[in-house]
Amino acid sequence: MTQRSVAPCAVPSPAPSAPPPSEWWRDAVIYEIYVRSFADGNGDGMGDLLGVRSRLRYLADLGVDAVWLTPFYPSPLHDGGYDVSSYRAVDPRLGTLDDARALVAEAHGLGMRVLIDIVPNHTSSEHPWFAQALRDEPGARERYVFRPGRGEDGAQPPNDWESSFGGPAWTRLPDGMWYLHLFAPEQPDLNWENPEVRAEFEDVMRFWLDIGVDGFRVDVAHGMVKAEGLPDAGFTGQLKLLGRAPLPFFDQDGVHEILRSWRRLLDSYPGERIGVAEVWPPSPARLANYVRPDELHQAFNFNYLAAEWGAGPLRQVVDASIAATDLVGAPTTWVLSNHDQVRHVTRYGGGRRGTRRARAAALLTLALPGSVYIYQGEELGLPEVLDLPDEVLQDPIFFRTAGADRGRDGSRVPIPWAGGESSFGFSPPGADPSWLPIPRDWGRQAVIPQLGDPRSFLNLYRNAVRLRRTHPALGRGTMRWLDSPPETLFFTREPGLLCTVNLGADPVVLESPGTLLLASSDMRSNGLQAVLEPDTAAWWSRTSP
Ligand code: GLC
Repeated sequence: MTQRSVAPCAVPSPAPSAPPPSEWWRDAVIYEIYVRSFADGNGDGMGDLLGVRSRLRYLADLGVDAVWLTPFYPSPLHDGGYDVSSYRAVDPRLGTLDDARALVAEAHGLGMRVLIDIVPNHTSSEHPWFAQALRDEPGARERYVFRPGRGEDGAQPPNDWESSFGGPAWTRLPDGMWYLHLFAPEQPDLNWENPEVRAEFEDVMRFWLDIGVDGFRVDVAHGMVKAEGLPDAGFTGQLKLLGRAPLPFFDQDGVHEILRSWRRLLDSYPGERIGVAEVWPPSPARLANYVRPDELHQAFNFNYLAAEWGAGPLRQVVDASIAATDLVGAPTTWVLSNHDQVRHVTRYGGGRRGTRRARAAALLTLALPGSVYIYQGEELGLPEVLDLPDEVLQDPIFFRTAGADRGRDGSRVPIPWAGGESSFGFSPPGADPSWLPIPRDWGRQAVIPQLGDPRSFLNLYRNAVRLRRTHPALGRGTMRWLDSPPETLFFTREPGLLCTVNLGADPVVLESPGTLLLASSDMRSNGLQAVLEPDTAAWWSRTSP
């Protein structure tokens, strides 16, 4: 066994700067709840608001500052609720408006804020506006993007744009007109050039802000405005979520004016309500545009999620991310998983190795300056479910690619709460089967058994989130890299915290790293030296020189 020895070098400590009085979002830990898969309160096999309410205490104990709820609006569920048919209501399968009000009040009572999803790029094809557009009622098609086709009899789509879910981004109606849908045909794109669309969404936001929500996660925030004249994109391959190519339907400059008006709206409410942009822009600098001081507060940093497990790629993405948001004075966000991506235990190699890396990634991520998003089940170390049978799959990506891409359902499997019960405590006893089956061996990873095991994934997260809350060096602020051996990342947060991560294959000996606060795997230490095993991260407390 090779061991490399290194002494974390002394770093001059900058004078700690007093944090601004609030701006809670600058270092918040925000927990994503994929509502249909979190907890089933009414026994129909689908998670709901009652279920969320029953588990708020769990989230408060985990130590998160806020929750983000994915869409719970009425929806025909062609895209897991991102096809909204009514923006001021709750899907009856998921609860009532009173449940939403109670949820917000109860979360606030436990010291947590509540963000909800808003889906402004498209409605459901079952939204009353689209029904009117299908009937070609006066002005109704102006709310969407309707165009005549090209070629003889207009039989060719108006341009070459493709749907993110596979196939063309245009569908033709029996009367010959085409409408645009960057996602499924059941998700027609709205026309944001139309003032009526703008007014409607401002009103929808007021509706929810009046109920007391603390802000919005803005779905496809870079998609609302399309390039003038809808020019061809010149596609060479299927568009993917997380793609990087500049496109005539994403990241157009015009979206910023809309986001500025939303910022004014958010700021007109008391209590620091925030907007979080879901954007996949072509570069970190373009991402920073969405979080300029007069735009949204945060944007998801998917570059971090997409980085390979390795010291080089991670250091590069951390530096680029911080540099980009620093340009505009915004906090960086750190995201490892969400409901659209393969869970990171699996991305990092799966099995014991993926689990070990994901534990180390948790300590790396929670030590970085900025705000951290946790996707439900990440704190349990859940992997992607790769063997869901075809007949249970629901993601439009599976259908639109004729099964070539199995889609995102594997990251949306319901959460196991209790070890021995039939639905692992996801549903009450005697309930219908869960909408996606929970793997039989997930009992061990359920919440209750993990709570009782001090070395569990869940307790690692609980300890780390708690320490992050109480340690003065963690959260907002700056970081400083230290020299370290290849395939390791060492950095300090001041005052007095050292984070060491070994991403390589060999153990690394640390000389006098300080007092161990938390480690992702077992740590051998004799007070003077410690051995950092492969795929392990540790936090150390040090007296600053
Ligand atoms: C966002 C959502 C994703 C959805 C898409 C279309 O990317 O996260 O789940 O399918 O928007 O609304």
